[in-house]
Amino acid sequence: MHRLALFASGNGTNVQRMAEYFEFHPSVSIDLVFSNNKEAYVLERCKKLNLPTVVFSREEFYHTNYVPDLLSIQNITHIVLAGFLWLIPSNILSPYQGRIINIHPALLPRHGGKGMYGMKVHRSVIEAGDQESGITIHHVNAAYDEGQVIFQARCPVVSGETPETLAEKIHQLEYRYYPEVVEKWLSR
Ligand code: GAR
Repeated sequence: MHRLALFASGNGTNVQRMAEYFEFHPSVSIDLVFSNNKEAYVLERCKKLNLPTVVFSREEFYHTNYVPDLLSIQNITHIVLAGFLWLIPSNILSPYQGRIINIHPALLPRHGGKGMYGMKVHRSVIEAGDQESGITIHHVNAAYDEGQVIFQARCPVVSGETPETLAEKIHQLEYRYYPEVVEKWLSR
């Protein structure tokens, strides 16, 4: 059995999609959702989805074993980041090497790195005049958005595109591909 922990900082639509996709899956379960933000709407979604949540502080994340201890107690096998803002510390990276995956709402290596999150990414794509954007699903390492790419999907950036319209297109790509790519990645 693959036991997943999801990490999210914000709205949590990808968490919800992932939870719905794997709800009756024979070999994948979502066992815990972590957030660094006690106000994040993802926590409301998890309540409705009956998913257990854990909120942690910056201090707990970077200076204690609170999170890795919980991962271990819950026998979590893999970690999926879904709109998570913070860099993963080494006390989680080491035991989960090759078993942490992230989604970025642009075609890395463009528009990635520290602070590149959500709408900021879409604004950056439009300001750069890019003709296309997309999603990148990649392994997670100690640097922002630099792990090995597993999958990309593209969409056009049309004239008159706004960060909001682009975000909507990107979300549709995320909902369509992220759970499926996670499923394939787990069964490889
Ligand atoms: C998603 O578009 C995800 O790709 C992005 O945050 C959004 C979260 O939406 N992640 C990053 O920007 C990571 N650098 P959601 O909370 O509705 O799932």
